[in-house]
Amino acid sequence: MRKYIRIITALMLIMSVLVLTGCGGNNDSSEKVDASEDVQTEQDAASGAGSGDTLVVYFSATGITKGVAEKIASITGADTYEIKAAKEYTDADLDWNDPDSRTTHEQNDASVRPEIGSDPVSLEGYKTIYIGYPIWWGEEPRIMDTFVESHDFDGITMIPFCTSGSSDIGKSAKNLADKAGSGKWLDGERFDGGVSEEELKSWIEGLK
Ligand SMILES: Cc1cc2nc3c(=O)[nH]c(=O)nc-3n(C[C@H](O)[C@H](O)[C@H](O)COP(=O)(O)O)c2cc1C
Repeated sequence: MRKYIRIITALMLIMSVLVLTGCGGNNDSSEKVDASEDVQTEQDAASGAGSGDTLVVYFSATGITKGVAEKIASITGADTYEIKAAKEYTDADLDWNDPDSRTTHEQNDASVRPEIGSDPVSLEGYKTIYIGYPIWWGEEPRIMDTFVESHDFDGITMIPFCTSGSSDIGKSAKNLADKAGSGKWLDGERFDGGVSEEELKSWIEGLK
């Protein structure tokens, strides 16, 4: 009889050990899946992915304005759109010492509208647009006029910015606002190519 009791006790012990380890393991792994989903959601929110109401539009012939545009996009979590000329500007085209260069001709004729080669952009859903360009002969490159004249900025706050060797933003932002004929245009700002993220952040915060 004692022999049977020992066998039954031993069997019960083995069964309870199996039940405990089995159930415990399953609970742990299902909790881990839920926790990792929570972490993923928090990361999406922090990166600004999907917020989508700010756009940085820019034209940049030699990459300086592009660098500033990318910093602004990284600070604001904005999308970017690069205006590219259908016929790319060569070094010879950009020679401001040559009275016969393409840019000299374009900037001397306010009616020129160089064709845009990049895929068209839809502005639907954007509430704020930073719009950047280099200063050419004290003004905006004519391709910026092509862009603003072919879009409707109704209901959008437009924030011009430019880069230059030394010239100020001058009349360029006002020219763009006049040619656009829609949107709420702020005064705009000129930056050095080497402007820091901190300087850009304090400018952006001052706009609010
Ligand atoms: C055709 C041409 C005209 C320019 N005119 C001026 C000017 O009037 N004043 C100035 O400070 N810089 C002038 N620059 C210098 C550019 O504004 C400056 O290098 C700018 O940061 C270039 O930007 P990007 O690399 O985005 O094209 C001129 C450059 C070019 C190519």
